[in-house]
Amino acid sequence: MKKIIVFASGSGSNAENIIKYFAKSQIANVVSVFTNNANAKVIERAKNHQVEVEIFTKTELIDGNVLQKVKNIDPDLIVLAGFLLQFPKNIIEAYPNKIINIHPALLPNYGGKGMYGMHIHRAIVENKEKETGISIHYVNENYDEGAIIFQEKVALADTDTAEDVAAKIHELEQKHFPEVIDRLIRLA
Ligand code: GAR
Repeated sequence: MKKIIVFASGSGSNAENIIKYFAKSQIANVVSVFTNNANAKVIERAKNHQVEVEIFTKTELIDGNVLQKVKNIDPDLIVLAGFLLQFPKNIIEAYPNKIINIHPALLPNYGGKGMYGMHIHRAIVENKEKETGISIHYVNENYDEGAIIFQEKVALADTDTAEDVAAKIHELEQKHFPEVIDRLIRLA
């Protein structure tokens, strides 16, 4: 069985959706959720599905402590699902082309530092964008700049609020993220 580690910092709706999807898979499982936030809802979500949780500090992420924990698991794929810290060079170098991230916008637009979650959706509404979407991409050392694996668009109405945009993005993420991971893990 192939092994997936999910990194998340907050609610973890994507992490839970991925856990549930692969609980039925013959090919891979989510073996652990790693979080930098001891109060994140993702912790409860993972434990509800009997998935192990690793909580770490920003220092441990940078100093190699987290890398060692990842190596002990030896994952086939690392998935960032709402992980809000910059991913460290030491893990990126140890797992080339095995780390992916989901971004709630159509990269290269609305990417980079400070562009996450509701900040993006508010900017989308302020700029009166006609469409938005999701991007799933490989993780490299530059924020949101790794090669794009998958994108899907959704049309916006003039009346859509930032919350409406968030709901549309959530629907796209729930539908596509596990399937894209499934495709990749078969090749891993
Ligand atoms: C998701 O929409 C994800 O795309 C976004 O955070 C949300 C996490 O929701 N990620 C980023 O903005 C990364 N730059 P979740 O915790 O419920 O899965």
